[in-house]
Amino acid sequence: MDNGQNKAGVEAFLPIARPATGPEEIEAVRKVLESGWLTQGPFVAEFEKAFASRHGVKHAFAVTSCTSALHLALVVLGIGPGDEVLVPAFTWVATANVVVHCGAKPVFVDINPGSFNLNPDAVSAALTERTKAVIAVHLFGRIAPMDELRAILPEGIPIVEDAACAIGASYSGRPAGSLGEIGCFSLHPRKVVTCGEGGVVTTNDDELAQLIDTYRNHGASVSEEVRHRGGRPWELPAFKVFGFNYRMTDIQAAIAQVQLRKLDRFIDERRQLADHYDARLQSIDWIRAPERPDHAGHSLQAYVATIDPLRAPVSRNRALAVLQEKKIGARPGTHAVVALEAYRREFGVDPQRFPGAMAAEAQSIALPLHNEMGCADVDRVVEALEKAE
Ligand SMILES: Cc1ncc(COP(=O)(O)O)c(C=O)c1O
Repeated sequence: MDNGQNKAGVEAFLPIARPATGPEEIEAVRKVLESGWLTQGPFVAEFEKAFASRHGVKHAFAVTSCTSALHLALVVLGIGPGDEVLVPAFTWVATANVVVHCGAKPVFVDINPGSFNLNPDAVSAALTERTKAVIAVHLFGRIAPMDELRAILPEGIPIVEDAACAIGASYSGRPAGSLGEIGCFSLHPRKVVTCGEGGVVTTNDDELAQLIDTYRNHGASVSEEVRHRGGRPWELPAFKVFGFNYRMTDIQAAIAQVQLRKLDRFIDERRQLADHYDARLQSIDWIRAPERPDHAGHSLQAYVATIDPLRAPVSRNRALAVLQEKKIGARPGTHAVVALEAYRREFGVDPQRFPGAMAAEAQSIALPLHNEMGCADVDRVVEALEKAE
């Protein structure tokens, strides 16, 4: 962060997100390229160890994306045709797509538009005897109400944490990824730390861990690294299940290792920027800053405010256009999956049954927040909004 200075100059485009990488990441990649081993290998193993330790879990497995992490999670939990999986109505589409790819039915549950996370009462109402799992999304880096969900769910219904946005976030001091049966993280460039594309699956369950490790590597009983470095590398492993190739490369893991070491600094810097947004946005009575209660150790993957349609002089979409005209990148928070064509067509979903998700879809606005900007950039965003018409 640049202590209030815009590194790129006042008139430069201020993007919604920008990865903060530098010479250490470049050096880490060089080491991998010189090693002669590019696929899942020692850098992946070291990254997984560090990730597990930081998130207080026994096992962490690096994969190609959070989408593949979520898919693996459902596969190893045995989700299939005839099963229902509860999914928030307001989330990135990948959360629901993986349920469909397992042949199961996504059952949408409304959110609380204040937290952007699952509404526990709506979860309760959506449970049936076919419910086999719940995907609790920690949207924008704020943890879903895990204790309430646990209290509502019948015993034996696992919670998969969609922690795509929640690396480094916590819930009453407990880290994301350690709160459900399985946790799934993203390392996409719009996340707090990144390696281009990538994901991580976490669990404390040894049996699930073994399955995750096997399914991500074609269903092989032994990883390529262990086989090639072992005494009998010509012996091909056993294949007892139908797996995928969801392995992360060592090139990505080398970048991810460096980024993970910067995670706490990145979150601190984001909190300073978010505090500055909170203070500055008080001048605008039609924008509500995101809720960040103390128990939610919000990791601020995104700073998502809400526009009050009754007071605002402009619509949310007009506000986005005004910012774009001023060379500021802003976006809707995310989308209501229940309003997407594929889900309406295939599952007959009626978006009007999800007022919380539809309000968030229409009124949320993600403002620029990343580790290459400073407080002067926040001032620039707020000044542009103050003048919006
Ligand atoms: C809530 C949520 N779930 C899942 C994903 C998918 O992550 P990935 O792009 O790593 O597959 C995203 C990505 O933005 C997300 O925001």
